[in-house]
This record gives sequence, C-alpha cells and structure tokens, in this order.
Amino acid sequence: MTDEYGLLDTDAVEGVGDEWEDIDVTDTEADQIARDRDREFEQFEERIKDAEHFKVEQSVFDDATFGALYKLVEDDHIEAFGGPISTGKEANVYEAMGGDSEVAVKIFRVNASPFQQMREYLEGDPRFEGIGNDKKQTVLAWVRKEFANLQRAQEAGVRVPTPIAVERNVLVMELVGLVEDRARRLAEVSVENPETAYEVVREYMRRLHTAGLIHGDLSEYNMIIHDGELVIIDLGQAMTVHHPNARDLLERDCENVASFFSRQGLDVSSDDLFAFVAGDDARLER
Ligand SMILES: Nc1ncnc2c1ncn2[C@@H]1O[C@H](COP(=O)(O)OP(=O)(O)O)[C@@H](O)[C@H]1O
Ligand SMILES: [Mg+2]
Repeated sequence: MTDEYGLLDTDAVEGVGDEWEDIDVTDTEADQIARDRDREFEQFEERIKDAEHFKVEQSVFDDATFGALYKLVEDDHIEAFGGPISTGKEANVYEAMGGDSEVAVKIFRVNASPFQQMREYLEGDPRFEGIGNDKKQTVLAWVRKEFANLQRAQEAGVRVPTPIAVERNVLVMELVGLVEDRARRLAEVSVENPETAYEVVREYMRRLHTAGLIHGDLSEYNMIIHDGELVIIDLGQAMTVHHPNARDLLERDCENVASFFSRQGLDVSSDDLFAFVAGDDARLER
C-alpha cells in the first residue's frame, strides 16, 4: 500500500453545509496568564527559554505566546517540546509530545505576520465579519480559521492533520509521521504512481469544494506524504467559496497542482482539474 496514497473512504461529504460557527477572539486566557505572571508561569517561561530547541527562536515569541504554551501544557495537550520542523514566514512548526501521541505545534508570529495579506484573505468570509482592523485580532482569527478549516476538511473526508487544540496564536494538531521518521513534502519525494496521487489530490480538492472551501495555497509544498498516505496541510488561508477572489485562487491551486503532475509525466490540464473540482458552481462565476 505504499503507492496508493490512502484515499479516505467517505460518506460524510453529504451533510457538510455552507454555514459557519462564530469565531470570537477577545482577550484570551493566554493573555491573562502572561499578565498575571504567577510563579509557576515564570518558571515555565524560563525553562522553555533555556531549552536547547527553542534557543534560536525564542526572541520571536512574546509573553502571551508563552502563556498560550503554558495553557496547552496545563490542559494536557502538550507534554514536552521537541525541535523545530519548519520555520516559515508567519509561523514556526515544532514537534512535541502530546497527551497520548506526538503532535505538531504551529506557533504564529503576531508581530511579524503579513497582516495586510491576511486581512485580504479574511474578507468575504462570513465567519470573520466582526473582526475590525486590529492586527492581533486578525492574526488570532487566522489561527482559529486554520483550526476550523482543518475540522471542516476532515468532516468532508479530506485527509488533513487532526486538529487538537487552539490557544491564542498556537495551533496543536496531529503530527503526520513520527519525530524520527518525518513526513516529506510531495516536492521532496520522487512520486511513485503519480496517477493515483493525482486522483487522490483532485478528489480531496473536490471534497473541499463540496464543503464550501478552497485551499488557496495548494501545491506540492503543502501536501505531505507518510507511510502511503497523502495529507493536505496549511489551511490557514483556505477560504469559503464566497470570497471575492475564490475563483482566482481555485484557478491558481489547479494550475499549481496540474503543473506539478505534468512534470511527473501526466497529461493533465488545470482547466480539466477546475471542472472536476468545481463543476459549474455558480458561486464562482466572475
Ligand atoms: N501536522 C503536521 N505533521 C507533520 N509535519 C507538518 C505538520 N504541519 C506542518 N508540518 C511541516 O511544517 C511545514 C510548514 O507547515 P505549514 O503549515 O505549511 O506552514 P507555513 O505556513 O510555514 O507554510 C510543512 O511543510 C511540513 O513540513
Ligand atoms: Mg506551507
């Protein structure tokens, strides 16, 4: 089963609607923990700051981020931190021991985030109508959005990391692969059986669309493979079909995916992929 890519069986796609829960990002418990600074929190912060893995990056985390990590430890979502898997523009991803399995901890930077870009992605998303122009609120909403998108994608039968917890600017999710046997990006592996991989990807794109979602940054860099399973990641920017640029972004996703699989020798086109994924969805008309 190493080249089958583990397409999820599903009958759950039906019944996933296009309505959304409200997302509230007022003063978080993590902010309160960081404000109160009780002794235990201070010791926790010291300990983490001294930890070898965090040394390089500690300067990018503010006190409230440590508050969020503290809360996640208190709530048993994280037991011990491991090293970084990735340091990106807006977030770093770390391995960690979770309550009962290994987890990936994605820590978003509140200060260095491309806030204006984020705002554009939140536009037209009915879940975020209440968010004003505040930078911190925007970034926190973004993190909750990634969490909600992962949940929604999973309900729709798309293989994504199972979301576990979200606390302020920190998202905890299932670690795909193992600490000692890390999942690879599609871009990093030589794809065996690209036909099947392509069929799995386009089916997941279609399921996402059926659930009212468009990934918006889909490419071989946001798909990971482990143990014969293909997993879609990085759903922070994923938006609903109501977004004013939904069509353009879906077209771009289709171009990226078709171009990657063309390079793997398949005869595929982004137009065919778009038609397969979205059919003639009137909501995506220009
Ligand atoms: N749940 C996960 N399990 C394993 N690896 C992950 C997971 N989430 C992210 N990664 C790794 O971290 C990298 C960056 O994560 P991603 O969500 O794409 O953030 P960015 O916004 O920085 O691109 C990914 O390319 C992947 O290698
Ligand atoms: Mg990414």
